[in-house]
Amino acid sequence: MLPTIDWEDGDVVMIDQRKLPAREVYVRCRTAKDVAKAIRTMVIRGAPAIGVAAAMGLALAVRRSTATGTTQLATEFYRACGMLAATRPTAVNLFWAIERMKRVFAAAMLAGQSTDELTATIDAESARVHDEDVASCRALGAHGAAVVPDDARVLTHCNAGALATGGYGTALGVVRAAVEAGKRVAVFADETRPFLQGARLTAWELVRDGIETTVITDGMSGALMRAGCVDLVVVGADRIAANGDVANKIGTYTVAVLARAHGIPFYVAAPVSTIDLSTPDGSGIPIEERDAKEITHLGPAQLTPEGASVWNPAFDVTPAEYVAGIITEHGVCRPPFDASLREACGAA
Ligand code: MRU
Repeated sequence: MLPTIDWEDGDVVMIDQRKLPAREVYVRCRTAKDVAKAIRTMVIRGAPAIGVAAAMGLALAVRRSTATGTTQLATEFYRACGMLAATRPTAVNLFWAIERMKRVFAAAMLAGQSTDELTATIDAESARVHDEDVASCRALGAHGAAVVPDDARVLTHCNAGALATGGYGTALGVVRAAVEAGKRVAVFADETRPFLQGARLTAWELVRDGIETTVITDGMSGALMRAGCVDLVVVGADRIAANGDVANKIGTYTVAVLARAHGIPFYVAAPVSTIDLSTPDGSGIPIEERDAKEITHLGPAQLTPEGASVWNPAFDVTPAEYVAGIITEHGVCRPPFDASLREACGAA
């Protein structure tokens, strides 16, 4: 399994996704502040992965604390929660993980735990968040494999793989599970401008796993579909609203519309921690806008003339009507999504 994030000698260590595929280097986080910086600067990215990172960051916050009493520890813990929540706005898994850790901390305080016991409780909960994420990816992969025909040509956008999760992946988890089930699968990876998660990360993961991979630029997917070369689209998600509208990497909406125009099923693969039942539809999902430099520059080289303005939203929203199914660890949700998503979340 790919080493996205793990503990090493009491520190949180993550592979630096900004440097892949050229270099495999690791970033060591000693404090919650280090983890917040790693999320903000895209050392680690992908909705489930940043949720796992936040949980581990909170474990670091209590481990590193020198608080002499539980009230002081609580102040430091909640401050770390606020800092981690301020890193990126769109992926709901981040907030889901922080809220889960807060609930566990509050219950442990109520139960009268000592500072040492609170530290052990938070440590154990962060490990559960990580383990459950990997288990969810494996379970949703198994459900998703059923919708992948043999000899399938799958188009994906961005990176929804092991790197974007605690391990195994969501969209790429579906691909991996189909391959493990003995199906032949070839993947087309959109390069995913401007951060190139598809060209750099999806291709890196799949090549390592020996899965046939062809990288295309984002503008090529329509021609590829028209040429009859795509059987299905599978993407991940950063937040799924209660009605099934899906926020994912910028460019996903374009792919969904193209898939509909060519009669190709468009699937979203995500654990239920990505479903936000408190947001009724996609209009309520905050969309992160990132630095213009991601578009104007490629490394040190400037691509655009001085004076040109730039719009750089990191995500878009695909309306539910374009989505054939949402593959979760509890099965494939079908339209109408209001009912099927509530059922998957155990809120029916
Ligand atoms: O900006 P990023 O790289 O964090 O965006 C990631 C995506 O959009 C992924 O498709 C999404 O988080 C799903 S990851 C399983």
